[in-house]
Amino acid sequence: MEKRNELYAGKAKSVFTTDDPNLMVMVFRDDTSAFDGKKVEQLDRKGMVNNKFNAFIMQKLEAAGIPTHFEVLLSDTESLVKCLKMMPIECVVRNYAAGSLCRRLGVEEGITLNPPTFEMFLKNDALGDPMVNESHIATFGWADPANIEIAKQLTFKTNEVLKKLFDDAGLLLVDYKLEFGLYQGQVVLGDEFSPDGCRLWDKETRDKMDKDRFRQGLGGVIEAYEEVGRRLGIDFG
Ligand code: TMP
Ligand code: ASP
Repeated sequence: MEKRNELYAGKAKSVFTTDDPNLMVMVFRDDTSAFDGKKVEQLDRKGMVNNKFNAFIMQKLEAAGIPTHFEVLLSDTESLVKCLKMMPIECVVRNYAAGSLCRRLGVEEGITLNPPTFEMFLKNDALGDPMVNESHIATFGWADPANIEIAKQLTFKTNEVLKKLFDDAGLLLVDYKLEFGLYQGQVVLGDEFSPDGCRLWDKETRDKMDKDRFRQGLGGVIEAYEEVGRRLGIDFG
């Protein structure tokens, strides 16, 4: 496999073509972004930590029957992934109230959400990733409603796998965001799963161990990510 040209650079990752049109290289950079790119900083080791974290989680999900784009770790900061046609929708499941849910609905941070909520957001930084529903997605043709339904089911299935995984590591999976795409007609989990795109709280102290440390300027961002990885048994080398 040969890495070729940069196809796309997002806020924290870049994607390169390879000599195989079905595969691409995802590069995890140290760039850390929040508030739709309004706050951006370089955090040492973040690319490596998120690349290895994502590889670990994607392999757990794949083993549980959730199709993912992940193929193999290539280096500290690079992974080989399947080339998906991404749907421009973020799927969010919440087990506890936090973040925009508290702001929108005036509910107290930390209350248990039973059953967990499911929300979708349009990927559009200029609009601030607005919340959208199935009707908007169908009307504006952002994705096929049948594929959105599959993405929703896979997002909930992910919850069952990861809630248990993090619980066993002494962590609460508060909420998380997934992005899906199509590969040979099949809905497949793409993008990444790392502490950048979820909320994880220590089960005992409820300390935040995710990107909220960066958003809220709490410090110790990568140290928290590494502590989560250590509890899961991830080897950061
Ligand atoms: P929110 O509370 O800001 O709506 O975020 C819910 C979860 O989704 C949280 O774990 C962060 C994640 N998320 C992203 O990773 N990127 C995004 O653009 C958005 C809107 C949320
Ligand atoms: N991921 C988005 C950004 O980088 C939103 C966030 O995490 O706050 O701006």
